[in-house]
Amino acid sequence: MSMLRHVAAAIFVPVVATSVIAADADVRAPRLGTPLSPGEVEKWDRTIFADGRGLPPGKGTAKDGRVIYEQKCASCHGLHGEGGTAEELVSEPKPPSADNPSKAIGSYWPFAPTIFDFVRRSMPPAAAESLTADDTYALTAYLLAANGVIGEGDEMNAKTLAAVRMPNRDGFIWIDVKK
Ligand code: HEC
Repeated sequence: MSMLRHVAAAIFVPVVATSVIAADADVRAPRLGTPLSPGEVEKWDRTIFADGRGLPPGKGTAKDGRVIYEQKCASCHGLHGEGGTAEELVSEPKPPSADNPSKAIGSYWPFAPTIFDFVRRSMPPAAAESLTADDTYALTAYLLAANGVIGEGDEMNAKTLAAVRMPNRDGFIWIDVKK
């Protein structure tokens, strides 16, 4: 008998649930909100690819970047990028080795546009996304020059930054690329 009650309940519950939903059309609606305007999408759509696709217009040099670095970055990363409470940003411009196991920008990062993307997206941590494109190009130029990857006077912009070849470019195994 108790078995029969269970079966009856199992049939009864879904029927009730369906009729409640059907009674209120709003509950069935997907409630996806309003579409974003192109301007709103722009603010989120900031992906920069390793080959430089997505880099915005703008430019900057190491000289400008040095000033911003001292104001906004040195407190955590050290006056010369040697590291502090946060990791080092400067090392020798050559791949890491047993003698130099550094994983800083000059020794480790395979693509220069990633520096721009990371810095603009997340640094300084207390004011992420506050840097302008020019400030970010200048900071990227400063970090690349401090790592000995570009010259002190080299201007970084969407074209020149994408063309920078990082010392450790070939230090990774590409698992998703068929050769
Ligand atoms: C309040 C401390 C603080 C300040 C100020 C700061 N950073 Fe950082 N930064 C960090 C921390 C912590 C990390 C590690 C974050 C992580 O691994 O997710 C980091 C990571 C980085 C990295 C990645 C390093 C690596 O090799 O993985 C870069 C590049 C960087 N910061 C650049 C900057 C720049 C440029 C500024 C100034 C605009 C700045 N940071 C300001 C704390 C700071």
